[in-house]
Amino acid sequence: MPQWVTGKVLDVNWWTPSLFSLRVCADVQPFKAGQFTKLAMQIGDKRVARAYSFVNSPQDPVLEFYLIEVADGSLSRKLSELKVDDEIYVDAQANGFLTLEEVPDADVLWMLSTGTAIGPFLSIIAQGKLWERFKRVILVHGVRHNDDLTYQTQIMATQRLFKQFTYIPVVSREAPQSGLAGRITEVLKSGDLSAYCGLHELPKSSHFMICGNPQMVKDTTELLIDRGFKRHRRAEPGHISVEQYW
Ligand SMILES: Cc1cc2nc3c(=O)[nH]c(=O)nc-3n(C[C@H](O)[C@H](O)[C@H](O)COP(=O)(O)OP(=O)(O)OC[C@H]3O[C@@H](n4cnc5c(N)ncnc54)[C@H](O)[C@@H]3O)c2cc1C
Ligand SMILES: NC(=O)c1ccc[n+]([C@@H]2O[C@H](COP(=O)([O-])OP(=O)(O)OC[C@H]3O[C@@H](n4cnc5c(N)ncnc54)[C@H](OP(=O)(O)O)[C@@H]3O)[C@@H](O)[C@H]2O)c1
Repeated sequence: MPQWVTGKVLDVNWWTPSLFSLRVCADVQPFKAGQFTKLAMQIGDKRVARAYSFVNSPQDPVLEFYLIEVADGSLSRKLSELKVDDEIYVDAQANGFLTLEEVPDADVLWMLSTGTAIGPFLSIIAQGKLWERFKRVILVHGVRHNDDLTYQTQIMATQRLFKQFTYIPVVSREAPQSGLAGRITEVLKSGDLSAYCGLHELPKSSHFMICGNPQMVKDTTELLIDRGFKRHRRAEPGHISVEQYW
């Protein structure tokens, strides 16, 4: 059962006509980078709740969420109307296993995301616990358009600070301004993704965290399984951890 607390909106940042970030002050319990909580609003006589990943690092007292206003979406439409000082419900208790705590040791950590699902990876990066554990960290962001490549200031700052970090935008519906053209699955299959990282193939000592569009998660997992990687389970360590957004 959710433990609802009242959150106050501190800031709303619109990146594009459909992508926005909310900064919220709410008294939630400690969470792990990569986890999500629930946000809710009263719609008519119903409290409508949906899951949203934390973008902020757990040590940051201000909560941040990165959202898309889904066409005809019931809660995302309502959340998109929020203004500074408005109130929402936040579940004080976080959930989810897409966290570094659940990832076994590997040389290369791949973070494969589409759309707003870059959020949990930004939280993990901001927390900073990954740099001692992995020789390389590769953040891949699959989006439709160049304008959907948000959080560039934070990502570029990480690139400047950590040589072991590689950021690869993958843009599917127009020519990319940087990075690769197509879908994550296509650039994985063609070898373009490895080549972009200066690798001949996907290193055996890799762990893949995959988050976002459920069909992307499914197709990418299948592709990696075909290449000899295994789903990771606590009882049976492997190479692939996933979270689907719908
Ligand atoms: C674990 C988890 C974490 C999530 N974290 C986030 C997050 O950080 N940011 C976020 O925007 N959403 C996130 N979602 C999705 C979110 O919970 C809602 O489904 C979304 O806001 C749509 O809700 P709605 O009521 O407006 O639309 P609904 O009426 O519930 O319509 C859902 C439809 O919207 C589309 N959709 C839903 N979410 C997305 C999305 N993120 N990107 C593109 N299309 C989508 C799908 O086609 C889906 O069938 C997460 C979902 C899960 C399960
Ligand atoms: N109203 C608008 O103008 C508008 C504009 C944009 C978005 N939206 C809304 O936003 C939602 C889509 O959001 P989004 O663009 O963030 O998410 P998305 O549709 O999941 O697309 C994000 C990226 O994932 C790719 N992808 C989709 N399926 C894949 C698969 N099976 N394997 C690999 N990659 C895959 C997409 O490629 P492809 O491009 O090849 O699909 C795209 O590059 C829609 O529900 C829509 O309501 C609305």
